[in-house]
Amino acid sequence: MKIAVLSGKGGVGKTLLAINLSVIFAKEGYKVLLVDANFSAPTIATYFKTIPNSNTMDEVLQRGGEGLENMIWIHPSGVHFITPSFNLVSLDDETLQNLFTIMEPLFPNYDFVIFDGPAGVEKDTHYVVHHSDGVLLVANPNYPSLYNALKVNYFAQAAGKSVIGAVLNMVTGKDEVSVQEAQQILETQIIGVIPFDPAIKKAVNEGVPIVMQSPSSKASKAYYEIASTLLGKEVKPKEGGSDWQAWIKRIIDFLLS
Ligand SMILES: Nc1ncnc2c1ncn2[C@@H]1O[C@H](COP(=O)(O)OP(=O)(O)O)[C@@H](O)[C@H]1O
Ligand SMILES: [Mg+2]
Repeated sequence: MKIAVLSGKGGVGKTLLAINLSVIFAKEGYKVLLVDANFSAPTIATYFKTIPNSNTMDEVLQRGGEGLENMIWIHPSGVHFITPSFNLVSLDDETLQNLFTIMEPLFPNYDFVIFDGPAGVEKDTHYVVHHSDGVLLVANPNYPSLYNALKVNYFAQAAGKSVIGAVLNMVTGKDEVSVQEAQQILETQIIGVIPFDPAIKKAVNEGVPIVMQSPSSKASKAYYEIASTLLGKEVKPKEGGSDWQAWIKRIIDFLLS
């Protein structure tokens, strides 16, 4: 299953959804390839505190596809990810087409290919949508985000792709569009609601996906619920896990400070 995570506007939470879903799927034993397909503004590697200077998609492209397996990065969670470098600045059709031609042979090796896509209906959106089986929209509960996500919904439909549903992120329940109205605007089912959770900022700063760093946080629970919906079975964080380790680390840090 190849899922394109897309949105109408940037900064709505696509990449964190793509990362955390990938980590949950990998922890459940699925083989996952997470593709940074936001070629104009790649961020996956930076969320892992890695700067992709070598073993990137564009480097392999320059070599004419040689050493394809070298571009697979392996995260401690078990997720495999591939990324362009920051040197990739010419995003003409030929380059985008060639990038997908290069990575395509990898896809059959995985249970899930998750594309972390660009915002809006950009040139790269076309390629991401075309290579996916279904689109997962992400939006925040405000009109600019919702209506531009609707536009991506129309774009996917025009390309003949199914829209799996939408995820509403950064929900506070105050001074914002309700979940019910958001669903009406998006013209697709809302399959998950992620609260605004300050714990995300900390996890981002530490370079660890929140479902690993703080599995019992509100955001992690929401990511797990979305993963359960997509897998069609209930998946839950293992109790104890890294929350405990985080607590012990915090106590040790405090005692040493
Ligand atoms: N549920 C949330 N609660 C709090 N902050 C969030 C949440 N989701 C995302 N963020 C913040 O928004 C930023 C952008 O998220 P990101 O996933 O990179 O968005 P996109 O990929 O759509 O541009 C993150 O770095 C994080 O600081
Ligand atoms: Mg992103």
